[in-house]
Amino acid sequence: MKIIMLGAPGAGKGTQAEMICEKYGLPHVSTGDIFRANIKNGTELGKEAKQYMDKGQLVPDELTVKILLDRVAQDDCKNGYVLDGFPRTIPQAEVLEDALNKLGDKIDYAINVEVPDENIINRMSGRRACVNCGATYHVVYAPTKVEGICDKCGEKLILRDDDKPETVKSRLDVYHKQTQPLIEFYSKKNILKEVDGTVSMNDVFNNIVAILG
Ligand code: AP5
Ligand code: MG
Repeated sequence: MKIIMLGAPGAGKGTQAEMICEKYGLPHVSTGDIFRANIKNGTELGKEAKQYMDKGQLVPDELTVKILLDRVAQDDCKNGYVLDGFPRTIPQAEVLEDALNKLGDKIDYAINVEVPDENIINRMSGRRACVNCGATYHVVYAPTKVEGICDKCGEKLILRDDDKPETVKSRLDVYHKQTQPLIEFYSKKNILKEVDGTVSMNDVFNNIVAILG
């Protein structure tokens, strides 16, 4: 099963992607997580991506597409994956579609997690992230057992540099201009599924499971 998670920054794509991956035994492929791991490790890719991420802008398509295609060509993606944060532009979606077409393959579902902009800034300020394993928490809605420490791998959690309210506003603008058109793109392909992202994490998940079966 190949799934794309769509939704604004902070809609809960990462949170739901992790839950889906656990239930269905799929790898979680997040371009944002790949970039953050590269920033942490001080790679050239990380340095380049950081310039854009810190401003809330998108990393250029050429760079992002290559990383994604390399990642999904790995062995663990053979039986499917959950894409979180990719595609984010129509050209990215087209490249992915072409690459899959060549393999006689396709995306099964594009799940749009809907959350209005008003709810987003509040969510972001309470988010804590693990750069080591990609887990996501929230100080109120999804607290860790020990404050500041990842429940899954024991690493120290971070506050993402791009979660400052000013940067979140730019990310929302970029989302509406460049990413939202993907909703229509996948709707036309009859694979779009919409879920309300404002209810509790478990309720969002149950609605997704009802779609995936
Ligand atoms: P990325 O890491 O993908 O960030 P994003 O899309 O902005 O999304 P977020 O990770 O911020 O939010 P999310 O939807 O995953 O929500 P989460 O589950 O954490 O990308 C970062 C940057 O990298 C981009 O700005 C860009 O520069 C670059 N980039 C990445 N991919 C790219 C691409 N393809 N092309 C170009 N550039 C790219 O949830 C948010 C918070 O809310 C958490 O604290 C969570 O615990 C809480 N929460 C979740 N669900 C609920 C709920 N139902 N109720 C209450 N709280 C909830
Ligand atoms: Mg995320």
